[in-house]
Amino acid sequence: MRYTIGLLKGDGIGPEIVDSAVRVLKAVGKKYGHEFIFTPYLIGGAAIDECGMPLPEETVKGCLASDSVLLGAVGGPKWDGLPGNLRPEKALLGIREAMGLFINLRPAKLYPALKAECPLREDIVAQGFDIMIVRELTGGIYFGERGYRNGKYGEEAYDTESYSRMEIERIVRVAFETARKRRKKLTSIDKANVLETSRLWRKIVHEIAAEYPDVEASDMLVDNAAMQLVRNPAQFDVIVTSNMFGDILSDEASQITGSIGMLPSASLSGGSCGLYEPIHGSAPDIAGTGKANPIATILSAAMMLLYAFSLNKESESIVNAVDKVLEAGLRTADIARGKVALSTDEMTDAIIRELSV
Ligand code: IPM
Ligand code: MG
Repeated sequence: MRYTIGLLKGDGIGPEIVDSAVRVLKAVGKKYGHEFIFTPYLIGGAAIDECGMPLPEETVKGCLASDSVLLGAVGGPKWDGLPGNLRPEKALLGIREAMGLFINLRPAKLYPALKAECPLREDIVAQGFDIMIVRELTGGIYFGERGYRNGKYGEEAYDTESYSRMEIERIVRVAFETARKRRKKLTSIDKANVLETSRLWRKIVHEIAAEYPDVEASDMLVDNAAMQLVRNPAQFDVIVTSNMFGDILSDEASQITGSIGMLPSASLSGGSCGLYEPIHGSAPDIAGTGKANPIATILSAAMMLLYAFSLNKESESIVNAVDKVLEAGLRTADIARGKVALSTDEMTDAIIRELSV
């Protein structure tokens, strides 16, 4: 089979980690007889430097015409001073919106080989955890009305959170379906003791829960959830939450896996074309040093094979190769802790070697 993949390398370590994932995909293609055709498009700071805007029209068109899209990361200090609508991050929000990617799947699991990297207490680590965060991605405060105005105390800025029934229903359904295929436990995270949007969210979760009697659903307030994630992460199976809460909690979840450099994600529209990216940022401080961990992006490519192309065994071969190199004790700098650290390329080579056996 032949698949077209748009590449959004972006900024900082973005190009290095995307190149790693491309090399892995090529190796998978070779092994299983698939042809992946890669077309790079500009996004983020790289696009600002090249054409004065973070998300050129050509990028949007190219992504929409691809079978799937792989993204590195965007942003960096060089563009921090730009107004909000010209920042690299705006491109990420723009492409999510343009592709209708309202579903963001962020799996966070503890690899047995990385238990020593988990910052939690030994008895908590011993229980392990395997969480799927289902984050709403095209609504809420990220996309609400915002601006500056003259307020009661003078200069004032505001951002607004709003969620329609339709937006909540569709993401909550995805979460229930996801839970059904896993351990059948769903935790909906909100701030219903304060926010009206959360109260609507919670009401809809309860309505939909009635359609899924086989899934054990519960609500949790976001402040408590932040605490429970480090107190007892094993209690979670699938988490569903709003755009902003999902952003924050997925970083927290990534840290207890050992490193944010390990976490992949899939952004989906319900149709087949999605966008796959590591959950970490562009790490400009280590860009070009070969220190970046390519695993989150490589695992994002594995998610692409699974969700976009239904190439189950090909996807699994990547996941297994990553497991094997970790079990063999190979580490990049972020998870090395005293061990010899491999460079981005060396780690990629090791994963490719495992794939080929
Ligand atoms: C993420 C990132 C983005 C977000 C930023 C870069 C806009 O933090 O994908 O988690 O907040 O969604
Ligand atoms: Mg984030």
